[in-house]
Amino acid sequence: MRKTWEKAARAALAAAALAATGVGAQQKSAIEEIERYRAALGDGNPAELWEARGDAIWKEKRGPKNASLEQCDLGLGPGIVRGAYTVLPKYFADTNKVEDLESRLVSCMVMLQGFTPEQAKKDPYGGPGKKVAMDALVAFVTSESRGLPMKVAGTHPKEVEAYDLGRQIFFHRGGPYDFSCATCHGVNNQRIRLQDLPNLLNPRDAKKAYTSWPAYRVSQGEVRSFQWRLLDCFRQQRFPELEFTSPASIALTMFLAKNSNGGTFDAPAIKR
Ligand code: HEC
Repeated sequence: MRKTWEKAARAALAAAALAATGVGAQQKSAIEEIERYRAALGDGNPAELWEARGDAIWKEKRGPKNASLEQCDLGLGPGIVRGAYTVLPKYFADTNKVEDLESRLVSCMVMLQGFTPEQAKKDPYGGPGKKVAMDALVAFVTSESRGLPMKVAGTHPKEVEAYDLGRQIFFHRGGPYDFSCATCHGVNNQRIRLQDLPNLLNPRDAKKAYTSWPAYRVSQGEVRSFQWRLLDCFRQQRFPELEFTSPASIALTMFLAKNSNGGTFDAPAIKR
């Protein structure tokens, strides 16, 4: 308990330091700014507030069945959180589906806590004045994989299918500008406005990008999940809104997660 409190206090201080360093941010490139934030924060990241809150929500009895999520099987067996994110997305026999972390959390809320799928998916992302359980749970679970190598199996036929679908979506061009993910993320050293665009087809960039989400977004003051990252890139691509935990979002995650195998997971991170 004490450790959680200390973590939260440290993160609150870090958030205050961040707000203070935000002055004049526009004058520098986003990358330099982030480097400066990192230096100013030392080892504190406001995401720790979400992690601590997620840890508490994980253990809290909720829903019609008044049960906690502690028996949720995230891929390594019921109740095992440490390292679980490194094997996701994964095929789960109990739902007969390939699931990423967010969709698996929804399944556990339904199976263990008795929520309806609609209730479990109702608030996928936080915003101003709105803190949601999903972001906190994602921060907590992923933090328990920090420092471990990614090892997504991708061998079950449904996992193979998801990976192939994800690859197809990555290269699928469409929308008013005829963009695909590869248009922005399939070339080395490409930039848009002030941001470096990782080449997600280059193994080094792919590992670095995937292992740094979820992230605390300085510009938004929120922890953003990988589902949110994809939602925002669908918007960049001028595609219709990506539905939370849809098969397309899980397939894309499978493609990007498996391509990051061998990379060391290092999130929740901190981003501009
Ligand atoms: C029009 C250009 C564009 C398209 C198309 C696009 N993205 Fe992005 N993507 C960006 C930008 C810009 C960023 C950095 C955003 C930021 O820092 O706010 C980004 C960031 C990302 C990141 C995080 C990288 C990191 O290191 O943090 C991932 C992963 C990603 N995109 C995946 C995708 C996928 C998958 C698609 C296809 C569905 C896609 N993007 C389509 C512009 C694009």
